[in-house]
Amino acid sequence: MNKLVAYFSAEGHTAQVAKEFAERIGADLFEIVPEKPYTTADIRWMNPIARCNREQFSGKDVPVATHVENFVQYDTIYLGFPIWYGAAPKVVYSFCKGYDWSGKMVHAFATSGGSGIGKTAEKLMPYVGGALSVDAVLVKSAADL
Ligand SMILES: Cc1cc2nc3c(=O)[nH]c(=O)nc-3n(C[C@H](O)[C@H](O)[C@H](O)COP(=O)(O)O)c2cc1C
Repeated sequence: MNKLVAYFSAEGHTAQVAKEFAERIGADLFEIVPEKPYTTADIRWMNPIARCNREQFSGKDVPVATHVENFVQYDTIYLGFPIWYGAAPKVVYSFCKGYDWSGKMVHAFATSGGSGIGKTAEKLMPYVGGALSVDAVLVKSAADL
């Protein structure tokens, strides 16, 4: 089985989990990097006009700068991200739209500031059409995976 750990992380928490987990299971590691990286001001969600809030409510894609080579080779994709507004950040959905998920097993994992995993998996499903299965767990560290 070929495994990929693909992650987005704005502040480093999910990145740390993803790296440790990928190393442990011997998976390839891929970082979802937005074309325009997030600054500290961009993710200050208490500010109504911060980039994160504008993106959240605009419905537009958040372009991704990086691309997975030979995505077809992977059977299982572990998809890591922080919970933003109770679900995956928009850039993760934009990433997902770029690939054919047919026949893949998708295991999402998320870090958060306190929220539960909620309906994260259900909200992800439309973007990974054709996947064999989709589930999601909340983690504090790689030990939770
Ligand atoms: C724009 C934005 C929205 C967030 N929304 C939530 C949320 O709805 N619930 C929550 O518990 N934490 C929320 N957080 C906190 C992050 O989920 C948490 O700090 C996460 O571990 C950050 O991961 P990272 O370091 O990989 O970016 C939010 C953070 C940002 C920047």
